Amino acid sequence: MCEVKLVAFSVTTKRESFAEPVEPTTMEHLSFFLEAMRDRKVASVVPTAPASVRRICRRIDKDRPVTLVEYGPGTGAFTRPLLKHLHPESTVIAVELNTSFAAKLRRFSWNRPADEPKLIVQRDDAGNVQDILREHGFDKADYVLSGIPFSLIEKDTRTRIIDQTYRALTPNGCFLVYQFSFHVRKLLKERFEAVRSRRVLLNIPPLCVMEARKTDLKRHV
Ligand SMILES: C[S@@+](CC[C@H](N)C(=O)[O-])C[C@H]1O[C@@H](n2cnc3c(N)ncnc32)[C@H](O)[C@@H]1O
Repeated sequence: MCEVKLVAFSVTTKRESFAEPVEPTTMEHLSFFLEAMRDRKVASVVPTAPASVRRICRRIDKDRPVTLVEYGPGTGAFTRPLLKHLHPESTVIAVELNTSFAAKLRRFSWNRPADEPKLIVQRDDAGNVQDILREHGFDKADYVLSGIPFSLIEKDTRTRIIDQTYRALTPNGCFLVYQFSFHVRKLLKERFEAVRSRRVLLNIPPLCVMEARKTDLKRHV
């Protein structure tokens, strides 16, 4: 009986990375809602749900140190689980345009546990990712995770962000985008070698997740 339970547990942990949910607090929900009322670029009234965060983050390798840039962390719905689950020698660079979100996340970044990944918070535009990486002593990123509302951004700016992201990634790098629509998929396909997309129905409204890579891994199998 006991053995059966142990086997079942090990199967579950192997399949489900980012298994420990990090729930947003009531204050985070309130802060998110208030900023959404003030700033249209927040583009949602609630942070992404923990179950959706877990689904999306499964694509990220947590067994090796990585440099991950997060565009639009908001109140940290992805940032906190990433810090809990990524390899401890990883670095997360959170790039947030909204002043209030950036300030709160910066305060959170102070006095972080030494055995967790490093968190750098930058109040900036995602389109400046290459400069931001250089400023903090990094050449390239392994992952860029984006929750910014591409459909509310002008086409030229959108194209610049995607181009800058492409240049900022390592050759095996991955750009993970979650949105409420597949609006940006066409632009991703124009720039990246391989783009895969899926829906995460656990979220309200459901999320459209796109994974863009510079290398088409299927071609190298
Ligand atoms: C839909 S919210 C996502 C928040 C959080 N990642 C989550 O999943 O709960 C979009 C976030 O992107 C930020 N944002 C919008 N445009 C941006 C840009 N150009 N650069 C950086 N952040 C941006 C907004 O301020 C907001 O925090």
